[in-house]
Parts: sequence; C-alpha cells; structure tokens
Amino acid sequence: MLAISINPNQTTAHRAYPVSSGGRRDQHCIFFQSVLPKKAKTDPARWLRLAVVGAALLRSSVLCTGAQQDGSELTAPKFLGAPSCSSSSCHGGAGANKDQYLVWSKYDYHHARPYATLETARAEHIAEALKLGDPTRSAACTACHAPLQTVPNDLLSQGLKISDGVSCESCHGPAERWLRGHTRHDWSHADRVRAGMRDLRSVYVRANTCVACHQTLGSDIRQAGHPELFFELDGQTVSQPKHWRTANDKPGAQIWLVGQAVALREMSWQLSQEKASYEDLAARWSALIWLLQLAGKADGHWPAIELNANAPTAERAMEAHRWSDRFAKAIAEISWSDGLTRKCVAGLAKTQGAFGDPKIPRPIQARRAERLVLALDRLTTGLGAAMSSAKLGPLLDRLFEDVQSLPDFDPPQFAKHLQEFHASASGILETR
Ligand code: HEC
Ligand code: HEC
Ligand code: HEC
Repeated sequence: MLAISINPNQTTAHRAYPVSSGGRRDQHCIFFQSVLPKKAKTDPARWLRLAVVGAALLRSSVLCTGAQQDGSELTAPKFLGAPSCSSSSCHGGAGANKDQYLVWSKYDYHHARPYATLETARAEHIAEALKLGDPTRSAACTACHAPLQTVPNDLLSQGLKISDGVSCESCHGPAERWLRGHTRHDWSHADRVRAGMRDLRSVYVRANTCVACHQTLGSDIRQAGHPELFFELDGQTVSQPKHWRTANDKPGAQIWLVGQAVALREMSWQLSQEKASYEDLAARWSALIWLLQLAGKADGHWPAIELNANAPTAERAMEAHRWSDRFAKAIAEISWSDGLTRKCVAGLAKTQGAFGDPKIPRPIQARRAERLVLALDRLTTGLGAAMSSAKLGPLLDRLFEDVQSLPDFDPPQFAKHLQEFHASASGILETR
C-alpha cells in the first residue's frame, strides 16, 4: 500500500481518499491520443518554459508514507465519470455553455494526455528507477496523472474510464450527490456546493484544487527525472482551454497572488514534513517568501510575516504555512483593483539592490529572480494596454532569458536589466 501524505488543505477530490495501489485499470477503455494538441495555443505560457528548464540542480522532498486505508471513505460519494456529463443536452452539446465536455475532451490536456504520458518511455524510465512497475498502475504516478485509478473500486461507477486522466470530477468533486440536483432551476450555486460540488468560483478553493497536482512532488520522483513542478495559478488558468463563462472571473493579478500564497503553503508543508535533504526546495521556499513579503506590502492591511527565510527550520516552515494560508484566504476575498496591481509591480520591480547583496546565496537569488520575472509577466499582462504602450515586452523577454538557466544565473546582469525594466515601467506605475 502506497499513499501520498498530503496537506489537508488540498482539496482535490480523489486525494480526499487514501491512495490505494490496487492497480485497477478499466478493461473497456480504448485509449485516444490523436485529437489532442500537444500544447495549448492560447498563451505563450512563459512559465512553462521556466518550469521545465534550468532547475535540474537540486532536489525536492519525499511525501510518501505507508498508510492504510481506513473505513472512512465508505460513506464518501461516488465518482460517476465524464460520460455522465457528456450528453448533448447537458455538457456535450455544441452551443454556448453546453460544450464543456467537448472543450475538455478535444482541447484540454487534462483529458487523455496525463494518462498517455504514463505510457511514454520517459515515464517508464522514471518508474523503473523507482522500482514502481507499470506507471499506469502505480499510485505514485496515477495520483496526479490518472486520479480515478487511485479511488477504491466501490466508489467508481461502471463505464468510467481511468484513461480519461484528469476528468470533470477531479476538479468539480465526485458527482454522486449533486448530479441530479445541480440542474434544478431552484438550486443556487450555494445549494450545489452544499451538495458536494466544489466551489471553483472561489479563487482560494480553485487554487487548492489545482495545487494538489501542480506543486508537490516527492524528491525520489524528482530525482528519477520527473520535471520540476511549478505552480502559478494565473498563467496556468490562462493556458487551460476555458470551458466556463469568463464574465465573473477575478482579475489575473489577484489569481496570481492567491496562487503564489497557496504554492508557498504547500512548500512549507513539504519542508516541515521533510527529513531528507532539501536544499533546492529550501531555496524555492525562501525565494517565494521574499516575493510574497514584497507583494504583500501593496496594502498595509494584509496579513504580514516577519521571518528569516534564508535559514529554514521545521518551525519556520510551519509558521509560513499558517501565514500563507491566512494570506491566500484574505486575498481571495478582497475586491481587487488596478491600483493594487500597479503597487505590486512597483514594489517588485525596484528590487535590483537585492541582487547585489552578497549575503544571499546565489541559488536563492536565482530562485528569487525566477519567481520575480514570472510575477512581473503576470502582473503587467494584467495591466494590459497601459503596459504594452510602455514597450516592456523586449525588456521582459531579456529578464526571462536571464533566468532561463539557473546554474548560469548572473546577479549583476540581472540587476542591471531589472533596473532598466523598472525605469521604463515607472512612468505608468506613477500615473495613479
Ligand atoms: C488530478 C490532478 C490535476 C488537477 C486537479 C489539475 N491538474 Fe493540471 N495537469 C495535471 C497533469 C498530470 C498534467 C500534465 C499532463 C501531461 O503532460 O501529461 C497537467 C497539465 C496542466 C497544464 C498544462 C501543462 C503543460 O505541460 O502543458 C495546465 C496549464 C494545467 N494543468 C492547469 C491546471 C489548472 C488551472 C488546474 C485547476 C483548475 C489544474 N491544472 C488541475 C494534473 C492536474
Ligand atoms: C504531484 C502530481 C504528480 C505526480 C505524483 C506525478 N506527476 Fe508526472 N507530471 C505532473 C504534472 C503537473 C506534469 C506536467 C508538468 C509541466 O508540463 O509543467 C507532469 C509531467 C510528467 C512527465 C513529462 C511529460 C512531458 O510531456 O513533458 C512525465 C514523463 C511524467 N510526468 C511521468 C510521471 C511518472 C512516471 C510519475 C510517477 C513516478 C509521475 N509523473 C508522478 C504531475 C505529477
Ligand atoms: C482541471 C480542472 C477542471 C476539469 C478537469 C473540468 N473543469 Fe469545469 N471548471 C473548472 C474551473 C476552474 C471552472 C471555473 C469555475 C467558475 O468560475 O465557475 C469550471 C467551470 C465549469 C462549469 C461552469 C460553466 C459556467 O460558465 O458557469 C461547468 C458547467 C463545468 N466546469 C463543467 C465541466 C465538465 C462537464 C467537465 C468534464 C467534461 C469539466 N468541467 C472538467 C475546472 C475544471
């Protein structure tokens, strides 16, 4: 029995259950890969480049323990599978707001791709190094790539396909108790949430859902060659082919900030649980605290934290864990304004001095720069036209190049480029 010990704040549906290694694989499933584009075309998704490049130097940490299944999930609601959402009068139609199944099954890489990945040679190598056997049957991999595989059989309805990868209920919650009710006209959104549908309209709840599969990777898996995971909710939300109406979406900058706080919470959790060596995780953690401390100054009323983040201990990690959760919840609730985005950019862009500080170890500086560039990208995108008129694009591109390879990171050069970026941006930042 292999289980991933998880932070209870994470709320991905399948992870509410102990992860079993039962190895069940649906016999009826036929595997389709063909219709899927390899990458979404919606966004340059610079964060993706960062996530995969450069960061091979160190390692993250182990979250695998041998836990037993208890009986508590027996009362849990069943997973009914994507086909139960797919009829043309429900979410499999062609019309606006009826096409969620089509968008997901045709364009969303959560559909067939995660499972297909486990059938590649690269996945096999990783699994071999870890002596896991078939990765499509190992909970260490399927927990994120084919989550229904890890759900006990009696909670899976017939006809559901494990090869469907990350499907509707992985994000929206197991449907048994809300499938019938959720179409009733007298049901409000709150009624659906009460019946067990996850409240993905809340940025905090959404962040908890996505982070469960997009941040924490055991160091053994990472060392065996798995790409580093990098959680950045705004960029990742933009990259996911949308199957929802965007009118009520919160501003990207707010989504970004909640996502970063939730990423910090998960890193803090991993650090506090971690017994093995974790220098790389520590550097990432330290850099993210630095970033959030700076962004947090955009408003004097937000929860603040004073912490020596360059020397992590389990206690400091837990302190950061509590703070980042409070911070994420608070930010998710506020009514965001462009003014806040400007203040965040202003605070973050004038940090060139920090990259000349000899007391900060270079791996931490490299990780700070990496977070910072992503932040500036998301925040200036959020400001839209104002920022594009300042011709920041090429300056931002140069900063991206500077952090492309973390082992080669050159702090003085980065500081110089950052200063130039700040000089060009400042005119716009001061207009309000
Ligand atoms: C149950 C696990 C799980 C959940 C929950 C999840 N994802 Fe993913 N996601 C994955 C996996 C696994 C992949 C990688 C697919 C592959 O390449 O094999 C992925 C890929 C992606 C990618 C594309 C990455 C790439 O390499 O192109 C984006 C963007 C993304 N997810 C966004 C999100 C967002 C936004 C949410 C929350 C609304 C979310 N994900 C929730 C597991 C998950
Ligand atoms: C915590 C969730 C999680 C776990 C556990 C996990 N993966 Fe992944 N995996 C992801 C995500 C998310 C991506 C996409 C990363 C990206 O593109 O940024 C990914 C990407 C990959 C890729 C690269 C795909 C590509 O096209 O570049 C391979 C291969 C892979 N995973 C195999 C495995 C194997 C084998 C295991 C088990 C030993 C495993 N994964 C466990 C979440 C996970
Ligand atoms: C990777 C996570 C993920 C997966 C997989 C996923 N969704 Fe969603 N879904 C979301 C998010 C995030 C939203 C936006 C929440 C909001 O603002 O209402 C959403 C919104 C929706 C909405 C609300 C549409 C609107 O405009 O009000 C529907 C309906 C929906 N999803 C159906 C589905 C169906 C059906 C599937 C499977 C075929 C599916 N989703 C798969 C994350 C996901």
